[in-house]
Amino acid sequence: MKNLKKDQTEILEKNYSVLISEDKIQKRLEEMGEELTAAYRGRHPILIGVLNGGFIFLADLIRHINLDCEIDFIRISSYGDEKKSSGHIKVLKPLSADIKGRHVIVVEDIVDSGLSVQFLLKMLSVFEPASLKFATLLLKKSRMKIDIPIDFVGFEIEDKYVVGYGLDERQIKRNLRSIYIVDS
Ligand code: IMP
Ligand code: MG
Repeated sequence: MKNLKKDQTEILEKNYSVLISEDKIQKRLEEMGEELTAAYRGRHPILIGVLNGGFIFLADLIRHINLDCEIDFIRISSYGDEKKSSGHIKVLKPLSADIKGRHVIVVEDIVDSGLSVQFLLKMLSVFEPASLKFATLLLKKSRMKIDIPIDFVGFEIEDKYVVGYGLDERQIKRNLRSIYIVDS
């Protein structure tokens, strides 16, 4: 069998350095799964993954949740292929599920300026969920421009552009298993 721990050397760039290893990510997800299980015990939440970046985090996170839960996805765009938020957010793929009266957990890869979270909060509240909370794998706290509490945070990180584990650099590198800082 192939060694899954082997470095993904073909897709690593010289200016990448490991910020959070795949083992650390998986350990933290175990804890987050326990936290979510305790917070939603007796309920049947729906997790909404924010595409594209949140797909791997959502997939791994739900396997650490010891409750029945549903999933759906929404796709929004604010960045185009740039590294800075344009501030103009569009819905590229709407929700499929009816979230009225449901316990909703929005699952983001990373919260940077927080503008996406602010947009999603406004947009999803209109559907009258019973509760609406946010989970993010990464939080760049120093960059946040908004005052909305993020309920479940994997790791707080410094203000550096990161790739891997779902996060992209011009649409590629999402398949890296660890999270890397891009040194510019
Ligand atoms: P916000 O609206 O500024 O909080 O931006 C959130 C979105 O921008 C995230 O969901 C990511 O898709 C993207 N993003 C922000 N920072 C990074 C990064 O360091 N690497 C990759 N994508 C990022
Ligand atoms: Mg995102």
